[in-house]
Amino acid sequence: MGQELRFPDGFHWGTATSSHQVEGNNRNNHWWRWEQEGGHVKDGTTSGPACDHYNRFEEDCRLMEEFGHNAYRFSIEWSRIEPQEGRWDEKEVEHYRRVVDCLRRHNLTPFATLHHFCNPVWFEEQGGWLNPQAPALLGRYAAYMAKQLGDAVPFWLTVNEPSVTPAAAYLMGEFPPCHRDPREFLTATRHVLIALGRMHQAIRESAPHSPQIGPVINMTYVMPGGDTEEDRQAAQLMDQYLNAYWLDGLRDGVIGPPAGDGEPVEGLKGAWDFVGVNYYSRAVVKAGPPPAMIEQVPPPADAETSTMGWEVYPDGFYQCLKRAAGYGVPVYITENGIGTDDDEQRRRYVVRHLAQAHRALREGVDLRSYLHWTFQDNFEWAEGFRQKFGLFAREEGTLRRIPKPSAAMFAEIARANAVPGEMAERYL
Ligand code: FCB
Repeated sequence: MGQELRFPDGFHWGTATSSHQVEGNNRNNHWWRWEQEGGHVKDGTTSGPACDHYNRFEEDCRLMEEFGHNAYRFSIEWSRIEPQEGRWDEKEVEHYRRVVDCLRRHNLTPFATLHHFCNPVWFEEQGGWLNPQAPALLGRYAAYMAKQLGDAVPFWLTVNEPSVTPAAAYLMGEFPPCHRDPREFLTATRHVLIALGRMHQAIRESAPHSPQIGPVINMTYVMPGGDTEEDRQAAQLMDQYLNAYWLDGLRDGVIGPPAGDGEPVEGLKGAWDFVGVNYYSRAVVKAGPPPAMIEQVPPPADAETSTMGWEVYPDGFYQCLKRAAGYGVPVYITENGIGTDDDEQRRRYVVRHLAQAHRALREGVDLRSYLHWTFQDNFEWAEGFRQKFGLFAREEGTLRRIPKPSAAMFAEIARANAVPGEMAERYL
């Protein structure tokens, strides 16, 4: 039998979702508007009713509890809360109040994300992340939510994957508004970092209790894909952008390269009580053409990949967790998972990544959660519904939640607070 991998008492086990990907009918954000133009989403789908989580959250909480989870990371849809600038919709606040109460009834610790890629249409029309007022607007929204739900939410996540929005929306042209402009990209990159500080401060000042507040960084293990000086520089730049810019920025309270020269930002230094880490894969890069000047090298022919084309690279998970821990704040795994039609591959992925998380734990990393991406197959942004990351399938039409074998496996792990020996033996 393999060695059982035991996690610390009080460890949080659960899944992560985001409002736009699961709630359905988020008609007032810039993603919805973009989807309606047609032709953007690769598989031709639109978010539509998504998983109807907005109406079926009670069933979902019940299932989560039944499957051994003790935590859930969800996001609050800003465009519902503040449908027009400065107008707050109390009915929507009530909705999220019901969600949080329901989580508590089912013994699920709420982790609430305030911004997960989507902007209200009014915010986008003012320039979105390019607007110098963006951090203040995010701060105001964060303060409002912390005042409304601060008594019931112990964990606040400010911005999901701060590096993704600037890069995908303003440099690579993949997310709305699909620009390819390096200057806009750097402006957005500055504003998102400033917003992390503003939001932290706003929640701290407005929440009645003392919640834990942190960002969710999509850490990627970056390696050079060639041995020229240019390739090494490309890898260094990529690493700086994806990882160090945010982590150093929060530790030191400064805007570093590529978006600044180390200028201090008020309220940014130490604006995290923990760091949320999302990890999926590594990036092997070399020097490339404009606008990014960096090119991703495809995975080796014999590498295991997902339907997203991402390489399965568990060792990178360990590397990222160790690095995050070096900043001296507790580490929460806020996303990890795989797009695949082969659920056996998902089970293998989970166990192999948990083994790396455990390796980090054994070396002293203060690791507190594993939130799997995701609960149910959902709207995977520009990829559409084709990509399946869920422990539960989504039956087209009825949207019925159908547990996959991985849901049962995850339940076993969560209940045991350990990867049992037989499971370790089977997959490691
Ligand atoms: C992450 C996002 C999440 C989902 C997964 C697959 O980058 O935070 O919404 O798209 O990737």
